[in-house]
Amino acid sequence: MRKSVQDLQSMKSNKERIVALTAYDFQTASIIDSYCDFILVGDSLGNVFKGEETTLGVTVDDMIYHGLSVSRGVKNAHLCIDMPFMSYQSSTAEALKNAGRIVKATKAQSVKLEISFDTIPTIQKLANAGIPVVAHVGLCPQSYNVYGGYKKQGKTKTNQDYILTLSKEAEKNGASLVVIEGVPDNLGSKITKTIKIPTIGIGAGKMCDGQILVTEDMLGITPSPHPSFVKNYSNLRGLMKKSISKYKNEVKKNKFP
Ligand code: KIV
Repeated sequence: MRKSVQDLQSMKSNKERIVALTAYDFQTASIIDSYCDFILVGDSLGNVFKGEETTLGVTVDDMIYHGLSVSRGVKNAHLCIDMPFMSYQSSTAEALKNAGRIVKATKAQSVKLEISFDTIPTIQKLANAGIPVVAHVGLCPQSYNVYGGYKKQGKTKTNQDYILTLSKEAEKNGASLVVIEGVPDNLGSKITKTIKIPTIGIGAGKMCDGQILVTEDMLGITPSPHPSFVKNYSNLRGLMKKSISKYKNEVKKNKFP
């Protein structure tokens, strides 16, 4: 059975680390499912799957298409789907409509929003409507044009206080989990100790309650350079190239079939 948000919250109470990865397709989901507690259909599919420079062009229809493919492969982990850029920022009513569409179509158990103080009331509305919310704080890739690139956050005391307060407000308004991206380790640790709901970090230090990476990055499918916090557990890009080159040679030399 899939893990619920309550199961993930119990993992925090039991000091059990949450293992999280991303997936955009059925095959990947069915491979990673038995090793993961949490699978995210991230809007990073804009960069990784669609080859775009940012996540800004990703649509609700993209998330439903990929979410449904992933959902068919998830039996054990919790399934969360990203709300894409401009699907929740304009109004709470719009957010409810789009989150409802995503959950109904994909059977996801939660949605993730890159939050600001403007979207805090939306967390409560979605949670009250029966849709658990994962709040993403720190480096929010949908703010690419505001930052002028993918820039680490929490560099000043003021910004650290902002991210901490935002995380506390998210919890107070009904968020089930918090994803913390691209902040100093001490801030990841402080948020994790301050709030009761679980934190899942990406480039936020080892003290978060769980860790998430983009699967294609950690497997070495996406080309280097990767962000500094990524560890390459494989070089599948190299392996794929080697295998395809071998196939090419065999076809050219009439050795296959
Ligand atoms: O879109 C995504 O894949 C994400 C994770 C990297 C946290 O937001």
